Amino acid sequence: MGWLNIRIYPDPILKKLAEEVSDIDEKIRKLIQDMTETMFFGSGGIGLAAPQVGIGFRLAVIDKSLGKKESPLVIINPKIIAAEGEVMGEEGCLSFPETYAPIKRAKRIEVEFINPKGKFVRMVVEDYLARVFQHEIDHLDGTLILDRMNRLRRDFIKMRYLKRMKRQGKMT
Ligand code: CO
Repeated sequence: MGWLNIRIYPDPILKKLAEEVSDIDEKIRKLIQDMTETMFFGSGGIGLAAPQVGIGFRLAVIDKSLGKKESPLVIINPKIIAAEGEVMGEEGCLSFPETYAPIKRAKRIEVEFINPKGKFVRMVVEDYLARVFQHEIDHLDGTLILDRMNRLRRDFIKMRYLKRMKRQGKMT
């Protein structure tokens, strides 16, 4: 068991485009296990993307039970192939501690990904779960909730966040 250290903004890995996973080997399997444990027991989140633990691969874990810690779903090389509707909702991110903001997302999406057994999966998700998918897939593209806000809100949230991190001694 190994809980992983969560990288927080402005760690540069969070802004990088992650690479496709080409082989689900022992290292990837261990990463999946550690990320799942970190999501369920180490962090309290409902989704965690590999770049958030410092690994630049297109892989994320999502708690499909949305906080009940019942059904972790592993998505490898995910792609959103269709999206419809638009909905605003409050969002947070483990890489932005104590920060929440309304973010606009598609209401319903169709996604394709590879599961840990190497099997190709296609899935339609909507509402809150669709929001989690979009949030995690954004992480793989180096896109953060800040990038999804208008400029005014972004500047405000960023300033408040950086001040708080400094005050708490998490940043110099
Ligand atoms: Co996040």
